[in-house]
Amino acid sequence: MGKIRILPDILVSKISAGEVVERPASVVKELLENSVDAGSSKISVYLKSGGKRLIRVVDNGYGMSRDDALMSLERHATSKIKDVDDLFSLNTLGFRGEALPSIASVSRFTLVCRLKDSEGATEIVIEGGVIKSVKEKGAPQGTTIEVKNLFFNTRPRLKFLRKPETELLRINEVIQRQAISNPDISFEVFSEERQISHYPSRDSQKDRILQIIPNTELFEIGFQNQGIKVEGYLSSPLENRTSMQKLYTYVNARPLRDRFINRSVMDSYGNLIEKGRFPQGVIFIYVDPKDVDVNVHPTKSEVKFQNQYVVGETIKHSIKTMLNEAPWIKGYKKRAENALKNFYQDQQSKTGYGGEDSSSGRFTSFYETRVDNKAQFSEEKSLENNKNYYSSVESSKNDISKDVGNKNYHSNLKFIGQIGKLYLVCETESGMIVVDQHAAHERVNFEKIKKAYIEENIIQTQELLLPEVLEMTPQEFSIAQQFSDDINKLGFNFDIFGKNTLRLRSVAAFLLNSSYKEIFLNLLNEIDNFGEGKSIKQSLDLVCATIACHSSIRANQKLSSDEVAYLFRDLDKCDFPHACPHGRPIASEISYDVLEKMFRRT
Ligand SMILES: Nc1ncnc2c1ncn2[C@@H]1O[C@H](COP(=O)(O)OP(=O)(O)OP(=O)(O)O)[C@@H](O)[C@H]1O
Ligand SMILES: [Mg+2]
Repeated sequence: MGKIRILPDILVSKISAGEVVERPASVVKELLENSVDAGSSKISVYLKSGGKRLIRVVDNGYGMSRDDALMSLERHATSKIKDVDDLFSLNTLGFRGEALPSIASVSRFTLVCRLKDSEGATEIVIEGGVIKSVKEKGAPQGTTIEVKNLFFNTRPRLKFLRKPETELLRINEVIQRQAISNPDISFEVFSEERQISHYPSRDSQKDRILQIIPNTELFEIGFQNQGIKVEGYLSSPLENRTSMQKLYTYVNARPLRDRFINRSVMDSYGNLIEKGRFPQGVIFIYVDPKDVDVNVHPTKSEVKFQNQYVVGETIKHSIKTMLNEAPWIKGYKKRAENALKNFYQDQQSKTGYGGEDSSSGRFTSFYETRVDNKAQFSEEKSLENNKNYYSSVESSKNDISKDVGNKNYHSNLKFIGQIGKLYLVCETESGMIVVDQHAAHERVNFEKIKKAYIEENIIQTQELLLPEVLEMTPQEFSIAQQFSDDINKLGFNFDIFGKNTLRLRSVAAFLLNSSYKEIFLNLLNEIDNFGEGKSIKQSLDLVCATIACHSSIRANQKLSSDEVAYLFRDLDKCDFPHACPHGRPIASEISYDVLEKMFRRT
């Protein structure tokens, strides 16, 4: 007899479960997909111990008959496709008939379902892939699936699961991804019997997105090209994140984490966004199902496009158009306009002219305004309301934010003078630019420190004439010792001087004239705040921003023109000269257009 044999079904299921079911979040993902495919209008998810002890998904979809319920637990059993052609005209999230048997093979699994218009429900109990009981019972229409003790029979997998809180975060992410593309479905989530999120159904896509990304201004994107349509809402590069977690991408309403799509998005933002930072928002890509293969990854989270190039270009075009036209990029101008608008509104109330209050919606749709003129959002509205005082200001053709990225943009500015010991006023062809010296200096220092840390030790340090003896709390002392290598890389060299006492011997040269002692202690506290297991590297932006903020020229400091020239030159060397590390703008423009309107010359 030969050595090769066919594996028993139960083992095959366990092996394939390894691909589909990695952690509680993957179970939730599969069960949600099934509930969505079943036409549910309400889906509830109940969890215990971050899904490790219990995941229960209850839907009110069309349910299953007894026979279908038994069939659904067989491998490769699906109601969603019949042949190869169907695979390329999919309008369901599932298609492989793998999820339920995979999940059932690695958990204690109960399925209760009642088909629409049928009398009773069926309950099937399975343990580690073995059917324990099948019986009739009463239940409402729909399907409830309960998954207890995930991986109870696959111990090595258990080891890879994280703390319940971490698993819960991942589950939440999965639910949000699904909720975004299904605004008409109401989702609720309970953990340890307490409701932790609730997304009631919404009529519009926008409203659902606002439920999930609430405090970020998002701008609409939209473009159609050669049968490929891209729609969505994205944040300005200034409202960025350190991960892609808040960037939700979809192909034909299927949530994905596709490298090609992510790369196309990042390429579109280009160097408007800092390295290691990511925009937030939602992108829906629609392609003819026959032009996209969704069967390239076991968790269905990547796809392959027939015409990848056109998809990439369509994504880029839609995003770049938004970036060029969205108000944030005209922000330099807009901010000045808004400040003036508020000023005039103030005047109005003082002189008794009633100006209507504007609502403060966080959605700004330039696409809609352009395409069908239907959208009326707060900014446009409030300008309109104040016509008498501030006749609507159109956007200028001179968009300085594009120029700001130019190599010598700031060095070439004609510096006129400093006002309020904070603002540097400069003349330009189209009006004037006002630079916030503190924000500018913070940006310059931030990038210097970060580069020095990353490129290791090229930071110029300066020995202190009198080393500084620092007494500190035991906590600070232990942090300093624990992270001494990383702290040295930031230019601080020190040795131990006694119990809870350090001697600071040198600091980064550019910190010499600042309160480096305070910066050093601040740094230790910042590191203490990172949270479990985080390294300086992971929180480098935060550390650098702290140092930069404390070491920068403050307001109330007079600058000579040489110092201004020096600052501008450094600013031109920055990768991202648009905002300080905390996202505050560095420069604003007041154009001649605005000045003319102020003085009613137009
Ligand atoms: N919540 C549900 N409501 C109604 N029918 C369901 C539900 N969950 C599963 N089913 C039925 O069970 C079948 C098997 O589900 P399963 O998730 O294993 O496979 P699938 O969804 O067809 O494909 P995939 O493995 O890609 O998810 C489905 O095709 C569907 O007919
Ligand atoms: Mg499925």
